[in-house]
Amino acid sequence: MPTTTIGLAVTLAFSLVAFTMPTSVWAASPTLTVSADGGVRIFDRDALLARTDVVEITTSRDVAYRTPRTYRAVALSKLLEGVPIPPDAVVEAAAQDGFVTQLPRDLVYANDGIIGYLAIEVADTPWPPIPGKDKSAGPFYIVWLGDQASSVPIMKWPYQVVSLSVQDAPAKRWPTLAVDPTLPALHPARDGQTIFVNKCFTCHTMNQAGSASAGPDLNLPMNPTEYFTDAGLRALIRDPRSVRVWPEQRMPRFAEEDLSDEELELILAYLSHMAHRKSRATEGGSGKR
Ligand code: HEC
Repeated sequence: MPTTTIGLAVTLAFSLVAFTMPTSVWAASPTLTVSADGGVRIFDRDALLARTDVVEITTSRDVAYRTPRTYRAVALSKLLEGVPIPPDAVVEAAAQDGFVTQLPRDLVYANDGIIGYLAIEVADTPWPPIPGKDKSAGPFYIVWLGDQASSVPIMKWPYQVVSLSVQDAPAKRWPTLAVDPTLPALHPARDGQTIFVNKCFTCHTMNQAGSASAGPDLNLPMNPTEYFTDAGLRALIRDPRSVRVWPEQRMPRFAEEDLSDEELELILAYLSHMAHRKSRATEGGSGKR
């Protein structure tokens, strides 16, 4: 059974229990689901805030709020203590809106000038809305501290997080997103795949492979390189609003500091290569490890 299904089943079961409990205050507290091979754990916000390892932290760079902020937080390495994470695995963080990002194991544990925290919104002192949005980054927001924290890509600062799950790295879990293995070692589509996974796979699937559901699949039924002009596609990735505009539009713009010209080139090479590799992933990939 895919992790999401297990997560959902447990969350539903949990809500039923919560529903029958006399203390509705407790039932209203939001939860974070953490799943791995060893099973599923549900962390209630109030229980998280009551932990002895909760600390007060202040971000220097803050991707969601764009200005330093102070949070109650638990280090990810503490939160995930006892959760088995094999060396090649990733911690997949899923947000309320279908955004899903992979945090490499070493990023979570390495401590090389980068420490990850789960920031927890306290019910009676709610966080302000994220600039340009109508909701806060809470109840759970992953932030990075330390002198190397600025090197953590913006896509790895997920907010409104609902679950963390230990998974195989994406290309292993979903072989249909991989480039043709016979491509020359330096073919740009190879690096393009890596950049795609880091920057686009958080919201889009490829050949229906992936956990994200915020944006459309980028190969099925058609690949954007088949229906956008080259100039139109470049413009859309740099700034979707330069191509078309509507109120519910959600794709972010990728300015040069978020995606260099070279990276954009590599992503386009990957997309056009994949247009010739259409194949539907089996549902949920290989599922839970
Ligand atoms: C935060 C989520 C998010 C990220 C990250 C993201 N997109 Fe999107 N994208 C969307 C959404 C949502 C749409 C649908 C239109 C909208 O609401 O803006 C979209 C639409 C598109 C479209 C137009 C598809 C069509 O047929 O209309 C293309 C092409 C595209 N994205 C490419 C990319 C590429 C390439 C990247 C990585 C560099 C990327 N996106 C990163 C959310 C995202």
